[in-house]
Amino acid sequence: MTVESVKPDATVAPELREPPFAGGRVPVLGHGWRMVRDPLSFMSGLRRHGDVVRLRLGPKTVYAPTTPELTGAVALNPDFIIAGPLWESLEGLVGKEGVATANGPQHRRQRRVIQPAFRLDAIPAYGPIMEEEAHALAERWRPGETVDCTSEAFRVAVRVAARCLLRGDFMDERAERLCVALATVFRGMYRRMVIPAGPLYRLPLPPNRKFNRALADLHLLVDEIVAERRASGQKPDDLLTALLEAKDENGEPIGEQEVHDQVVAILTPGSETVAATVMWLLQALAAHPEHADKVCAEVESVTGGRPVAFEDVRALTYTNYLVIEVMRLRPAVWILTRRAVRDTELGGCRIPAGADIVYSPYAIQRDPKSYDDSQEFDPLRWSPERAKSVPKHAMSPFSTGNRKCPSDHFSMAQLTLITAALARKYRFEQVSGSDDTPRVGITLKPAGLLLKPVPRT
Ligand code: HEM
Repeated sequence: MTVESVKPDATVAPELREPPFAGGRVPVLGHGWRMVRDPLSFMSGLRRHGDVVRLRLGPKTVYAPTTPELTGAVALNPDFIIAGPLWESLEGLVGKEGVATANGPQHRRQRRVIQPAFRLDAIPAYGPIMEEEAHALAERWRPGETVDCTSEAFRVAVRVAARCLLRGDFMDERAERLCVALATVFRGMYRRMVIPAGPLYRLPLPPNRKFNRALADLHLLVDEIVAERRASGQKPDDLLTALLEAKDENGEPIGEQEVHDQVVAILTPGSETVAATVMWLLQALAAHPEHADKVCAEVESVTGGRPVAFEDVRALTYTNYLVIEVMRLRPAVWILTRRAVRDTELGGCRIPAGADIVYSPYAIQRDPKSYDDSQEFDPLRWSPERAKSVPKHAMSPFSTGNRKCPSDHFSMAQLTLITAALARKYRFEQVSGSDDTPRVGITLKPAGLLLKPVPRT
């Protein structure tokens, strides 16, 4: 069934409102130009116009909920599925058969295959690798030398995901290739999402050629990983084995394409989001040395001076609050989209079948109605007494509902460990040439963060 073939639902109440249009649209591009030029302020400003507003992105009308209650409702309502401009452009990257883009029974089956690898009780098995990678990252850096945080953050994110989940002997050369390919592909996809001008992207222009080359390398990389595992004849107890042994709805082994798309669908969001968050954590440690000192003091008091270990993560409460606060203010996944599969309603507004929905965790997580001093960096707002007052769905960096990130426990464990290891060993200072302004693409990253690590005595 296609979205277009779904008949309007006669049970939807006729008195539903049409949401207002956001201001500032121009001919042809509509609000697309604002989405390209200054998307964070644009999305954050939409709440002034209503709880649900309409946008024009190129020729399309898109609906944008602006309150935590309604973005939560979108994530939880089966009338809204994964589809729309973000996912159409993502399919070029993650394929049509991976868990991140599938819907319905295929999606449920795929979640069942990958879920065991991410369960809370599966995470301790990854502890030694996370520990090793966190300390190796800190040890790589030479005091006084400049650290290029983009490549370093990508490196650690790729290595942890690949070593834990694919048991891959993931060499730096591959991490580097993946980093370069993903950066180009994600940038290109974002453009394709906000200005959906299909034929333009098929022209043999230099940016399109660069995009296509990056995409090809990404797929080659995944083919290499799968081929190596098959050639080894080994079946370790990991996610890649689970994918290779998975059966479809008829009990038949899943096809090569689905295995490929599944690896892409796990490795790419896994590296890009964790890398972006590590960059923002480093930025926060440099920008807020008083909080970095508190993290360091907590690590010392928990470990008594030995290297921080995976088992310490639960006791590192302040470090954990800091990680959460960074994810509130700088959510890697700053924008999400869905598509309505039938005529439905949202906040008393009529949403027609086939309509695209767009919303921003960045805007939601900075809403002054949900947070006191919402723009302030304040890790202690996550202490149990204060966190109680945060409205439901106002902090949802991993999303919620059936598309919720499977990797929330996995990610929180590694991010806390990395933050603890780095803040214990170094203070950080930005160096000249560093640019920590937010750069928007499919994920939110600092434009070019360069830091000098200064060893703590
Ligand atoms: C989905 C965030 C790390 C794999 C998602 C979604 C969000 C998210 C918001 C939901 C997208 C939606 O609702 O449309 C994050 C953040 C991370 C992180 C903030 C780290 C800071 C990871 C890692 C992996 C991963 C490490 C794998 C190694 C996935 C997959 C999905 C997903 C496979 C698709 C789930 C589905 O559609 O059923 N992530 N993620 N993520 N994430 Fe993550």
